[in-house]
Amino acid sequence: MYNRPSTKMRRFFDAKYSIINARMTEQKQTIIRLPKGFLIGAASSSHQVEGNNIHNDWWHQEQLGRVPKSGLATDHWNRFEEDFDIAKQIGLNAMRISIEWSRIEPTEGKFDVAAIAHYKRVLESLRKHGLTRMVTLFHFTLPQWVAEKDGFANSSNIQYFVRYAKLIAEELGEEIELWNTINEPEVFTYMSSLAGKWPPFAKNPLRGFKQFRNLAKAHKLAYHAIKKVLPNAQISIAKNNVYNEAYRKNNALDKMAVWFQDWSGNYWFLNMIKNEMDFIGLNYYFYHSLGVGLNGIKQKNLTGPKSDMGWRTYPKGIYHLIMELHKRYGKPVYITENGIANARDDMRQDFIRQHLEWCNKAITDGADVKGYFYWSLTDNYEWSDGYDPKFGLVEINYETQKRTIRPSAEIFKQIKSSS
Ligand code: BGC
Repeated sequence: MYNRPSTKMRRFFDAKYSIINARMTEQKQTIIRLPKGFLIGAASSSHQVEGNNIHNDWWHQEQLGRVPKSGLATDHWNRFEEDFDIAKQIGLNAMRISIEWSRIEPTEGKFDVAAIAHYKRVLESLRKHGLTRMVTLFHFTLPQWVAEKDGFANSSNIQYFVRYAKLIAEELGEEIELWNTINEPEVFTYMSSLAGKWPPFAKNPLRGFKQFRNLAKAHKLAYHAIKKVLPNAQISIAKNNVYNEAYRKNNALDKMAVWFQDWSGNYWFLNMIKNEMDFIGLNYYFYHSLGVGLNGIKQKNLTGPKSDMGWRTYPKGIYHLIMELHKRYGKPVYITENGIANARDDMRQDFIRQHLEWCNKAITDGADVKGYFYWSLTDNYEWSDGYDPKFGLVEINYETQKRTIRPSAEIFKQIKSSS
């Protein structure tokens, strides 16, 4: 016989069910719908993970004690299979990696057949794992012999980069779906030629200017060299754009500061190469609130959660940047990097979710966003900050090289594709 539950019991069940319901709604809300075919991946770069890149300029400077030592890094050179297994396991369908020029051509004109064969195995392994391949040709490290000839600051070195790009197209091109010739030309130029923090530690605006222009030239020539071998190759760069906002919304000076920063930092390079890009690779980390004072342009107080690097996060900025790129160039956009240093792993999942949601909104509003690569699959060598920052979906124990998937990586299981 059925007995009506007492009021007390009913209250108890109601409370319990409302918790369960709330949890279910919460779970439902966490499902992120993205268009069918959308690439969800992680990004990395050769010197930050491979280990023992003894023929490049960073390694050289590391031995001189001018930047932290990279050593074995995450030993990705030997553990790439394991890393791609993890990428697959956590639900990714793409990877952005880079090829180390100094491995391919350790000394001028001498190409290392074994290194080429190694990258072939890496790319084949990605294919076998069902991971679409985006490949960067230059991610901040130069062969030492190129650095000794003044790197990209010297226009006669452009030919060497183009020769290398052509070689990769011929030898490995069949195994590459998406190309980035150059990673973050501004960051590279600023750090190496203006701020004096990265090799060759120059503080020379003229050098910076030459390098910047030469990088654009190098991209354009490499673009055509690759296209000659592979007419259907999809080629671009990975461009770090900052979302700039006027501190005082209606102040003409602050608005001018935004205009200037947008032009010089975000669009100058892209305008130079606009006829040689099949898509736009967007790296998004920063937003700036700019105000003009007596001492020039000042970055005003930012709010928003702070990463371990002290960088404030602002997910909506990715939306504004995508829409602006869409308006200016009308090309497909891939988020080639977006990530957070967060050792406690208590911010990463929200960070990714919110950025993906803003990508979604951009798609709804007409932009052709085709993929998102989180920076980075694993913890890695963070340039002059060494091994302290933890950007990884996967934690690395540098003593044992043990990989441990962080809980935030669960987020990729909550993505569903809609047609
Ligand atoms: C670079 C990466 C770097 C990441 C985090 C990007 O600017 O492409 O090499 O590790 O930012 O700082």
